[in-house]
Amino acid sequence: MQQLKADFSDPRCAQPVDFAERDAPNQLVNILEERGFAIVTMADPGSPDAKLTALAAALRLGNPYIPALYRYAETKDYSTAYSDIRSDTKDQHPGFSTTAGQAWHVDGLLDDIGDIKTTVLYCVRAAHRGGQTLLFNSLAAFAELRETDPPAAEALLSPKALNRRSTLPAINVSSTGPVFAVDEAGNLLARYTDNDTCTWNFSVGPPGGLQRALAFLRAASDNPRYRLAVRLAPGEALIFRNDRVSHGRHPYEDKPNARRHLVRALYAKVPTCRPSEMSAELPTSSAGL
Ligand SMILES: [Fe+2]
Repeated sequence: MQQLKADFSDPRCAQPVDFAERDAPNQLVNILEERGFAIVTMADPGSPDAKLTALAAALRLGNPYIPALYRYAETKDYSTAYSDIRSDTKDQHPGFSTTAGQAWHVDGLLDDIGDIKTTVLYCVRAAHRGGQTLLFNSLAAFAELRETDPPAAEALLSPKALNRRSTLPAINVSSTGPVFAVDEAGNLLARYTDNDTCTWNFSVGPPGGLQRALAFLRAASDNPRYRLAVRLAPGEALIFRNDRVSHGRHPYEDKPNARRHLVRALYAKVPTCRPSEMSAELPTSSAGL
């Protein structure tokens, strides 16, 4: 997996791809495979929904995915294809509607590891101050731990390692699963979360393994090789592999009547592009034959 070698301190990581370029889908797919995330500039005028629809079509993401948590009667207000993320004192969602920071998590606390493969955040308006989205290459950190402390890494693979519970006031539900897993194709999957939804089961794996693993991941998430803060400008979208990176947010301040506003969409599919776009820049071996 290329993402295991990614260096988030490389300044090229923060450079956006221009969606107007003909091979933008191909560039984005390649960058997502290399780093687990990509930034794209969507300069043309249009509604956030139209931008997200165009991006999903270009990357063949299919229809937006509604997380399991939002399929209950108590939470149906959040079961929209596109979620507005902006401060709202009338709403009690702990992530969407506050200006507070967000600790490391993956989206979909009730969904199985790997179910929500892609998250897109489209920026309508940036915060007056703060509000950077944080990205952690938890997959690469896990791969490093597997080399240096295999028993600790083993604890993270336990299907009983981490329980996540809803912190929405309306509903009391939770789900238990591993922190990392290996899929049928041998690729690593991440569910690393370290916030107030978490209950860790320190009895799994070799004695002391999960404590060491957690200490390692917390230190790694401060390492510039694995961690990046992205400040999106209006018209930019951040696309990331929710099954391969963890994310969070710096707290922020709004100006009156100019609230930070992101629109989020989730997808069960991995970004791909059409074969013609993938090979557009490469010479074909049959040329001249
Ligand atoms: Fe999130």
